[in-house]
Amino acid sequence: MDFEKICESRFSVRAFKSDPVEEEKVEKLLKFVRLAPTAKNGQPYEIYVANTSAALEKVKKASPNTFGAPLVFVLCRDENKKWANRYSGENQILQDMGIIATTLLYGAVNLGLGAIYVCNVDPDVLKKELGLPANLVVSSIVPVGYIAESCEPSKMHGSRREIKEFIHSVE
Ligand SMILES: Cc1cc2nc3c(=O)[nH]c(=O)nc-3n(C[C@H](O)[C@H](O)[C@H](O)COP(=O)(O)O)c2cc1C
Repeated sequence: MDFEKICESRFSVRAFKSDPVEEEKVEKLLKFVRLAPTAKNGQPYEIYVANTSAALEKVKKASPNTFGAPLVFVLCRDENKKWANRYSGENQILQDMGIIATTLLYGAVNLGLGAIYVCNVDPDVLKKELGLPANLVVSSIVPVGYIAESCEPSKMHGSRREIKEFIHSVE
């Protein structure tokens, strides 16, 4: 799909069909993630794929926001792979994780799927449920699936500032 069309059609999906996402599409989404940029190419992520009812139940214990998705990516950051900006000292790992999540959002649309970025998750509960090693922290989850017919973009989706409200010329 053309990138302009992907940007125009993406919205946060809060109702999914129960139909499973084909393995081939799951693999493609992971391929898109692999190609995403990260600070100093640190690739500080580990991705857990939940697409069985037992796995999805574990995720639901940590978040009320899975919206019936048959597939949830749990995005974890590896605290041993942090990398800081030399001027500000600011760690770039959260930016890296945001890029990974965003790649999944747009990648899903490209494959005829919908998705949503969810931070409303208890990282400690999910860490325990998944038996994650000490160095991993749950950053967010991204539920993915086919969009339910009843699903509409939220009011927030339609509420955007005009470009002139956020553009500034550098003199
Ligand atoms: C970092 C981040 C965290 C978010 N967390 C949640 C969440 O926990 N639950 C939820 O329903 N939506 C969540 N969203 C979706 C936003 O509410 C949504 O992107 C925003 O309202 C704009 O709507 P749109 O994505 O449909 O254009 C999150 C989005 C981002 C970027």
